[in-house]
Amino acid sequence: MNTDSQEERHVSALRLSEDRDGVGEAARRLRAGHLVSFPTETVYGLGADAGDGRAVAAVYDAKGRPSFNPLIVHVPSVEHAEDLVELDDAARAIAAAFWPGPLTLVLPKRAGAALSDLVTAGLDTVALRVPAHPLAQRLLREADRPIAAPSANPSGRISPTTADHVLDGLGDRIAAVLDGGPCEVGLESTILGWDGAGPVLLRPGGLPTEALAAALGQEPRVAGAADGVAAPGMLTSHYAPRARVRLDVSKPVDLSGFLGFGPGLDAPLNLSESGDLREAAANLFSHLRQLDGRVPGDGTISVAPIPEHGLGRAINDRLRRAAAPR
Ligand code: TXA
Ligand code: MG
Repeated sequence: MNTDSQEERHVSALRLSEDRDGVGEAARRLRAGHLVSFPTETVYGLGADAGDGRAVAAVYDAKGRPSFNPLIVHVPSVEHAEDLVELDDAARAIAAAFWPGPLTLVLPKRAGAALSDLVTAGLDTVALRVPAHPLAQRLLREADRPIAAPSANPSGRISPTTADHVLDGLGDRIAAVLDGGPCEVGLESTILGWDGAGPVLLRPGGLPTEALAAALGQEPRVAGAADGVAAPGMLTSHYAPRARVRLDVSKPVDLSGFLGFGPGLDAPLNLSESGDLREAAANLFSHLRQLDGRVPGDGTISVAPIPEHGLGRAINDRLRRAAAPR
């Protein structure tokens, strides 16, 4: 039986090899705004240009994620990290001890950092990682821009540790996968942040907590419900507008706080004039922020109806959180 045509129908992603041409092609595709999966020592990531809102929206779309969790941004070195976040002495010491490696640090975003608001889900912090995998290193340097990458699996499925896993789950939704063989660690990175009182373990992972505690000189506090973290790796807190938010508004009373979607609307800001949900997702957090700065504190942001399919589900999930009574 000839299964080739069937394969072609289901798997359109290119499998790129780890030679120079493969890495070059992967980098070119990332720079063009396409999705490219690549190996790290933890798991395969689903990579997108972190400065390109539409590419980042495509990541959520491809994974079928019903909500916008902030994504981890990958860079090749601590010097590259300094362009995006503020590292204090404590963060610098931990970065020096464990980067490159299976550790992600959540740090304050630097003003003017070239990151899409969708990557951080509108937060003022960025989760950053410097992976050690040689292929990830070569790709990040050649792409020459920060790369957002969650694990390269459909939402709700287990994380991929081979290129075949990636192709099985997402082969019809991504441009390419850079094949670097099986991942060594096989478990997502450990995520560490800081609050006013000290270090906080946000997700246990590939770097053992003992090693981290030894370098910190203390046990990190383990994040719980009070941090807006429902379960390890699941962040529930998000950027919340000051203004009240009303949903499914077709005819707003006050046009100045109207966030439109679709053509022919007299709205000061429109998530997507053409009704494109990827464009809408890419604009969501920055438009909310802009309107929030414009309407008075006791004012209201009214949002046009957003269709409840594809990325619309994640957009509506975020908007419902913003509209929930506080
Ligand atoms: O091993 C890994 O970390 C893999 C590989 C591909 O690098 N990546 C990965 O990424 O697991 P991702 O995007 O699925 O991880 C996202 C998690 C969120 O669920 C949240 O827990 C945390 O990272 N996170 C991201 N940004 C954050 C922020 N600003 N504050 C707190 N937590 C954040
Ligand atoms: Mg994952």
